[in-house]
Amino acid sequence: MVISVIRVVALCVALASLRAESSIEQPYRTAYHFQPPQNWMNDPNGPMLYKGVYHLFYQHNPYGPLWGNITWAHSVSYDLVNWLHLPHALFPTDPFDIKGCFSGSTTILSDGKPAILYTGVYSNDSQVQNLALPKNLSDPFLTEWVKSPLNPLMIPNNGIDPKNFRDPSTAWQGPDGMWRVILGGNLNGQGTAILYQSKDFFTWTRSTNPLHSSVKTNMFECPDFYPVSINGNYGVDTSSQDKFTKHVLKASFDGNDYYILGSYTPQNDNFSAENDFLDSGFDFRYDYGKFYASKTFFDSSKKRRISWGWIAEMDGDANAVKKGWSGLQSIPRSILLHKTGKQLIQWPIKEIETLRARNVSIQEKQLKGGSVLEVLGVTASQADVEVSFDLTNLKEAEFIVPDGVNPRALCSQQTASFRGMIGPFGLLVLASQGLTEQTAIFFRIFKSHEKYIVLMCSDQSRSTFRDGPDKTTYGTFIDIDPRQEKITLRTLIDHSVVESFGGNGRACITARVYPALAIDNQAHLYAFNNGTVDLTISRLDAWNMKKARLVSANI
Ligand SMILES: *[C@@H]1O[C@H](CO)[C@@H](O)[C@H](O)[C@H]1NC(C)=O
Ligand SMILES: *[C@@H]1O[C@H](CO)[C@@H](O)[C@H](O)[C@H]1NC(C)=O
Ligand SMILES: *[C@@H]1O[C@H](CO)[C@@H](O)[C@H](O)[C@H]1NC(C)=O
Ligand SMILES: *[C@@H]1O[C@H](CO)[C@@H](O)[C@H](O)[C@H]1NC(C)=O
Ligand SMILES: *[C@@H]1O[C@H](CO)[C@@H](O)[C@H](O)[C@H]1NC(C)=O
Ligand SMILES: *[C@@H]1O[C@H](CO)[C@@H](O)[C@H](O)[C@H]1NC(C)=O
Repeated sequence: MVISVIRVVALCVALASLRAESSIEQPYRTAYHFQPPQNWMNDPNGPMLYKGVYHLFYQHNPYGPLWGNITWAHSVSYDLVNWLHLPHALFPTDPFDIKGCFSGSTTILSDGKPAILYTGVYSNDSQVQNLALPKNLSDPFLTEWVKSPLNPLMIPNNGIDPKNFRDPSTAWQGPDGMWRVILGGNLNGQGTAILYQSKDFFTWTRSTNPLHSSVKTNMFECPDFYPVSINGNYGVDTSSQDKFTKHVLKASFDGNDYYILGSYTPQNDNFSAENDFLDSGFDFRYDYGKFYASKTFFDSSKKRRISWGWIAEMDGDANAVKKGWSGLQSIPRSILLHKTGKQLIQWPIKEIETLRARNVSIQEKQLKGGSVLEVLGVTASQADVEVSFDLTNLKEAEFIVPDGVNPRALCSQQTASFRGMIGPFGLLVLASQGLTEQTAIFFRIFKSHEKYIVLMCSDQSRSTFRDGPDKTTYGTFIDIDPRQEKITLRTLIDHSVVESFGGNGRACITARVYPALAIDNQAHLYAFNNGTVDLTISRLDAWNMKKARLVSANI
């Protein structure tokens, strides 16, 4: 009761002091993705829920649209859709972070108080881990943060490369009451999740063994470690002792966020992984497109785990300077273990559907081989589309031996213009009249001995007629049996970003695109089938999306 009064008052004060963002002509500015008012943004940091308020911190350059002067910026929300930008939480002001306040996480401590652990860099480039705590716990927005006088709390010693020692995860508490945290590092040339323990969150001791290390990878950045429920449709607190869980270890390297699953015994901190990163024939990533340095948090109010990831620009520095900003955050995604127990599934959080406005719907419509079908009546530059395809003639599928096939290479050799048998079929988004520009998110179905292989691609090769932007194609196989289920796709289109969820969230591909013709009300949306085999759109729903409210507090 007391809290809700404080919340209402705080929101009224905040809303009274809003100033609208400038609305200069910005064809690539998004309408419902998280962006700061201006300048450079990269990793999401320390997302959390505290007393009914969602917090998102992020790596930000307050002084320019390119990387540099890295601080922790801070925004708050009641719904993860509409945001209030607050003053920055951490600036590089001390010797232990003078070269920047780099990525880290928040942990809600046993007494309910939140704490930030972040990486700071000394003037000699040595990386260390620091603590910051809220100045005033009665301030519902936790506007001010105080760095601990005990900083730095973790320093690179005993063989740790001081330049590769960063990004503390959310900490978790074992049955012995000790806190554990992992950091990304490179030990003896191996990507490593270095483990530390602490009784009081101030004094940290490095464990003899890392939580995990992998001979096959580069340095781990932004490691994340958390339980997921087996057969449960809900998320689990990071410190949960629930037996019916598996653990996920996520590490960022080579431009993608990879994960492995395993079982974790907190008594001896043994993480026994089912596969290692980059094992042959094994390639689980949160997203097979442009998505990096993600971070999850447990939303205790709705019992779910939510992930955020950084979506970088692909249009060069000069254009970033021209438009005055760089970088987006993904739509927050809820993360669950798939019912097979073999992989994760991700889905845009339910709240994003509050932005859905006018919709159009198509049902049971045949899509002949070599045809396109325009979806009329939707603002195609700012939309949410869900479609499912019925394949009736699987016998015609082309043969493939998937072992050793790189799905991404297959997508870029055989793009949407390849005339296959079953597919390419899918959506053409941010398409111009006459299809000079189009971004194709599509599937192809292959046959391999006794089973079918489903390929999902995002083809940016024709996304803009302009030279300059990176037009890389992405792709992955999805573990779907097309005899048992329809092929589904959900795509969130937002001016210069296309986030696609295939197979009900079993594979995600995010693309950045910079159309020159297909902007605002000149953008079109189509379903297409460039295979030779006919298929049926079982159902397609498309919604115009309203603009999210992102406003700056005038503090
Ligand atoms: C960092 O900030 C300084 C001081 O405001 C400024 O001169 C410099 O251009 C900034 N660097 C970048 C990369 O924005
Ligand atoms: C970097 O500077 C810090 C603080 O003065 C010091 O503790 C550390 O030993 C230095 N690291 C290296 C590699 O020189
Ligand atoms: C702490 O925050 C509350 C709520 O915003 C405010 O009323 C109070 O004055 C603040 N205390 C201090 C010391 O700033
Ligand atoms: C870790 O757990 C796995 C699976 O339970 C077991 O095979 C392995 O021996 C354990 N390792 C250690 C060091 O206890
Ligand atoms: C689409 O909008 C109509 C009203 O215009 C509504 O009746 C229908 O339920 C909506 N469909 C979906 C899937 O939201
Ligand atoms: C389908 O294939 C033809 C022939 O390669 C190509 O010209 C056309 O652009 C393709 N359609 C789509 C939607 O990519």
